Amino acid sequence: MELLRANNLSKVYRTERGWLAAKVPSVQAVSQVNLSLAPGENLGLVGESGCGKSTLARLLMGLEKPSSGQVLYRNMEFTHWKQRQMQAIRGKVQMIFQNSLAAFNPLFTIEQIIDEPLRNYGWSNSQTRKSRVVETLERVGLGREYLSRLPHELSGGQLQRVGIARAIVLQPELVICDEPFSSLDMTLRKQMIDLLKELKQELGLAYIFITHDLSIVHRLCDSVAVMYQGEIIEKTSGEDLLMQAKHPYTRTLVASVPIQDPRQRDKYNHI
Ligand SMILES: Nc1ncnc2c1ncn2[C@@H]1O[C@H](COP(=O)(O)OP(=O)(O)O)[C@@H](O)[C@H]1O
Ligand SMILES: [Mg+2]
Repeated sequence: MELLRANNLSKVYRTERGWLAAKVPSVQAVSQVNLSLAPGENLGLVGESGCGKSTLARLLMGLEKPSSGQVLYRNMEFTHWKQRQMQAIRGKVQMIFQNSLAAFNPLFTIEQIIDEPLRNYGWSNSQTRKSRVVETLERVGLGREYLSRLPHELSGGQLQRVGIARAIVLQPELVICDEPFSSLDMTLRKQMIDLLKELKQELGLAYIFITHDLSIVHRLCDSVAVMYQGEIIEKTSGEDLLMQAKHPYTRTLVASVPIQDPRQRDKYNHI
């Protein structure tokens, strides 16, 4: 069964209200997107800044309502669900953001940050919550000693680990990562990718991974969707994207990928 599906999903932002509205053009952030994701599938979503990736992510999360079209989670349409009904899906679909420091409450300890989804989700036993928090923290490579720290006391890489812990603490089926590692250096980025890969294997997670970095897509994703001006213009396997990109925009993206392994260079020489 499909995990997630988008049918003709569109989002138009009207930037002005009132008498100005007619004069200011609206923005079509997402345009007629169709997408299907299998359980455990890793989909890369690539495209230039402003092409609608984050908006699409928010629509798929149910954080925003589409102007038209539908989102289905395991064949259940939730586009027009009420807040309370959405709660059931919130536990199953989680998000990791680019800037964890901005996403966290600066006054919360790391324990409170990871505990928050559990509390929101109705876990009332504080003992059970605590052990789940510790277990999850250790799972992402941070020890108990971080429980009482505040976000500003952690490095960028450690904060992203907390972001991952918070996203997986409810054991979701899908994690949407919106350019999560773009502020990290190459070594940390590689560590995070390895961690996400391990979590995928252990928990059977599906990812939608939004990135500029096609080498990440190559390492982590089974398939790639290329977005351009609100539309998905190409969807293919990661390998095929590098080998035989069809759309001119995709070719430009592919041409800018650094090939790290010199033995692989010939393979991609034609691009
Ligand atoms: N809340 C909003 N109100 C008005 N316009 C928005 C809003 N969010 C995004 N947009 C516009 O929609 C387009 C897509 O933005 P976004 O989804 O953030 O792209 P990306 O994540 O690919 O950089 C951009 O033109 C952006 O300015
Ligand atoms: Mg974005």
